[in-house]
Amino acid sequence: MAIAVSVTAQEKTVMHSKNSAISLVVQNNEAGNVQYSITYNGEPVILPSGTGFVFNKPSLRLDSFETIGIDSSANDETWEPVWGEVKSIRNSYKELTYAMADKKGSGIRVNLIFRVFDDGVGFRYEFPQQEKLGHFIIGDELTGFQLTADHTAFWIPGDYDSNEYLYNTTRLSAVDATKAAAKEPDIALKSLYGPDAVQTPLLLKTDKGIYINIHEAALVNYPVMQLNLDKAHLLLSSHLVPDAAGNKAYLQTPFKTPWRTIIVSNKATDLLASKMILNLNEPSVISDPSWIKPQKFIGMWWEMHVGKATWPKAGGKHGANTGNVMKYIDFAAANGFDGVLVEGWNEGWEDWFGNWKENVFDFVTPYPDYNIDSLSAYAKKKGVRLIMHHETSGSVTNYERHMDTAYRFMLEHGINTVKTGYVGRIIPRGEYHDGQWMVNHFQRVTDKTAHYKIMVDSHESVRPTGLHRTYPNWLASEAARGNEFNNAPALGLRPEHETILPFTRLMGGPMDYTPGYFHFQLNQFDSTRKTRIRTTLAKQLALFVTMYSPLQMAGDLPENYEQFPDAFQFIKDVPVDWDDTKILSAEPGDYVVIARKAKGRADWFAGAVTDENSRSVEFDFNFLDPGYNYQAIIYKDAENANWETNPAAYAIEKKTVTNKTKLSVKLAKGGGAAIALTRLASQGKRR
Ligand code: NOJ
Ligand code: CA
Repeated sequence: MAIAVSVTAQEKTVMHSKNSAISLVVQNNEAGNVQYSITYNGEPVILPSGTGFVFNKPSLRLDSFETIGIDSSANDETWEPVWGEVKSIRNSYKELTYAMADKKGSGIRVNLIFRVFDDGVGFRYEFPQQEKLGHFIIGDELTGFQLTADHTAFWIPGDYDSNEYLYNTTRLSAVDATKAAAKEPDIALKSLYGPDAVQTPLLLKTDKGIYINIHEAALVNYPVMQLNLDKAHLLLSSHLVPDAAGNKAYLQTPFKTPWRTIIVSNKATDLLASKMILNLNEPSVISDPSWIKPQKFIGMWWEMHVGKATWPKAGGKHGANTGNVMKYIDFAAANGFDGVLVEGWNEGWEDWFGNWKENVFDFVTPYPDYNIDSLSAYAKKKGVRLIMHHETSGSVTNYERHMDTAYRFMLEHGINTVKTGYVGRIIPRGEYHDGQWMVNHFQRVTDKTAHYKIMVDSHESVRPTGLHRTYPNWLASEAARGNEFNNAPALGLRPEHETILPFTRLMGGPMDYTPGYFHFQLNQFDSTRKTRIRTTLAKQLALFVTMYSPLQMAGDLPENYEQFPDAFQFIKDVPVDWDDTKILSAEPGDYVVIARKAKGRADWFAGAVTDENSRSVEFDFNFLDPGYNYQAIIYKDAENANWETNPAAYAIEKKTVTNKTKLSVKLAKGGGAAIALTRLASQGKRR
């Protein structure tokens, strides 16, 4: 379906989604600006909002357009992700292209491409190859999101360097990024740029109960889009993260910006189930992905966070020594984990923190007490893989100089997964974590690791935008406040945190959240510590299901798992790759209940998490195969459990259930429940 029509100024183009729920209207206003608006079931969601750019080179403002042509098409395809929450994904949309030329006489051409899905709209700018524009520098993007009212917003402060904030839930008119950030002394590196600034994914809820998620898809060769908020007009505008010189992006035609995404639903569950962001990304570039494997692992890691051991060798408590890591390998092998992450294995940690030293790590020199040759042989014998750690301490140019050697060194030792880290200010100096330069760094890491057949888990990185469709070797990133932040002295997490993350940060892609803590007061090795985990034990189990990731690191120490072997069984059993996912019920800030079907198996796993309030949730098992009994093992909060005073109290119950069963489970304050469902022989038949 392709139609080309010519339009007169101010003519409206309307496009309805295939299910008619979403309508997009595009129109030139009197000044020639192309404006878009969106309605959901007839209800305005985005009022006419502007488009355009300011260029620093050539110097011009591109915001008044002549429409040269309008084209439309439609697509409906189904594709299979290499790994994911579901086995196959339907990508069905209508597309509208506005071909435009600068009305002010530069002759520059730009296309605006919209895709209208049943669950939202994505749009991007395309600068085609053209004589009048070759190299150019973006000074600003003028995309607006004109909201209809003072919605409830789930937001973190706009910040060029950190996305590890707690979420704030306020009316838009009450957003104050400066004030919110001032309450967060644990965030060491802040680059705030104003009180009326928030990051994406941003979740909004209207008073009529419509959920709106604003984010971006396919962030390639461009800075992260954050949002400025004009409170008087309830207008959000794109705010691109600048570079050291204040420019936003250095580009060359032909070029396509990332997609600006607006997902809309009146059901919180449907918002969580949206695959729009993945669908807007390009298909995988990795033709043979057989080496890419979702993984459940443990880490020689929390020891350092809680003060049992240290990353540096100096000081006499070096964690990554050969004997200690052998114990982790033994524990991983005995309990069916795929891997063991080892931090602090390489020379340099004595100098790593401080933001100014450039060549601290070379990524190939183990400390003398870490015998990587014998450990990799031992791991191989035990059927476990070591996971490499590359902390760059923000010295990114140094990392780039060493990448090839470092990746070859990994492969020589049978290691094909790397956790990267970017703590501190970025070197080259003046670059920000979320600028174009770093986005391109992550691209270089992704390309190079793909070349070497290495999987990546990035910390302190740009938040994901669905690029894992295109580069399925980039399995997960941190890029938000993880469970490990409970060990930060001031604030830690809030029990509601994990009920907001799925609606915000996780909309772009998986997070290395490190679920699974069984020990709550973090003063086991350092009695001065006041830090603690702010959930119940049952909720830690549920997080393996509710916080989707193909990489799940069971965060706690082996000795803490050994205290609760029956609860640990759930962590041993829960898979990390799925054929199907059902969002059973959810409300941002309150609760999330999800069930997932294990990849290639008939078994299901379910999880429910709540905020600081106790509540009962219902698991309606109508998704189970009819005619079968399932054995349900239910890991739930004990009657007297609560996150604050009795977090480790849980109960395990076994039941036979069918697709007719509705099970109500009470969650404690800050609590949760996890259920393993194994399909038994069909009723009347033997399996
Ligand atoms: C911060 C990461 O998030 C954490 O997981 C890691 O242990 C430290 N940096 C050290 O690299
Ligand atoms: Ca971190």
